Amino acid sequence: MLRHKINPGLEVRLLQPEHAAELFALVDANRAALREWLPWVDATCKVGDSEKFIAEALRERTATRAYQAGIWSMGALVGGIGHNRIDAAARVAFPGWWLVPAAQGQGLMTPCCQVVFTHAFTQLLVTRIVVGVAMGNARGQAIVKRLGFKQISTLKNAEVLGNRSVDHFIYSLVPGQAQPSARR
Ligand SMILES: CC(C)(COP(=O)(O)OP(=O)(O)OC[C@H]1O[C@@H](n2cnc3c(N)ncnc32)[C@H](O)[C@@H]1OP(=O)(O)O)[C@@H](O)C(=O)NCCC(=O)NCCS
Repeated sequence: MLRHKINPGLEVRLLQPEHAAELFALVDANRAALREWLPWVDATCKVGDSEKFIAEALRERTATRAYQAGIWSMGALVGGIGHNRIDAAARVAFPGWWLVPAAQGQGLMTPCCQVVFTHAFTQLLVTRIVVGVAMGNARGQAIVKRLGFKQISTLKNAEVLGNRSVDHFIYSLVPGQAQPSARR
C-alpha cells in the first residue's frame, strides 16, 4: 500500500526517506507523551535515527512486504501505522500504530486501521492480525475492541517501557470479524 486517501483531509502514505526530518520533529515534539506506550521513542534521538528507521522499513518491505506508513491529517504528519513484522509462512501480520496527542480523540486512527487491515487481508494475503497492547493502555485497548479484535491470551513482561516491564493483552483479528460499528 503506497497511498490511501481515507477522506479529503486524512491520508495514509508509505514513509519515504524525504519524510525523515518531519517524522523526527513530530516524535521529538511529543516524546514525553509518546514514550508512555511506545518503546522506540527513547531510541529516537536525532534525525539520523528516523532516517535509519525508514531505510530499514523500506528494506523490510522488499523482503517481507511489511511496511511503515505515515498518517497525514490536513496535510500535517500526525502519526504512523504499519506492520512491525509479517510471518508469511503462518500468514500472520503484527501491526502497530500511534498518533500524537493533539490528533487523538478525533476518530482518525480507526479508519486508518481498517484500511491497513483490509489491505493486509486482501493484498498481503494474511489470515490473522495479532497485536499486543499493554494492560494499562486504555486508549490502546479501546481501539482494538472497537475494531473487532478478540483477546486470545496475555503475555507477562511482554515489553520494557522506560524502566518498567509491562504485561500485554494479546488480541487477534481474522477476516469478517470486524465490528460494523467500527466502520465510521
Ligand atoms: C491508540 C491510539 C492511536 C488511539 O487513538 P484514538 O484517537 O483514541 O483512536 P480513534 O481514532 O479510534 O478515535 C476514537 C476517539 O475519537 C473520538 N471521536 C471524535 N470524533 C470522532 C468521529 N468523528 N468519529 C469517531 N470517533 C470520534 C471517539 O469518541 C474516541 O474518543 P474517546 O476514546 O475519548 O471516546 C492513541 O491513543 C495512541 O497513539 N496511543 C499511543 C500508542 C499506542 O498505544 N498504540 C497502540 C498500540 S499498537
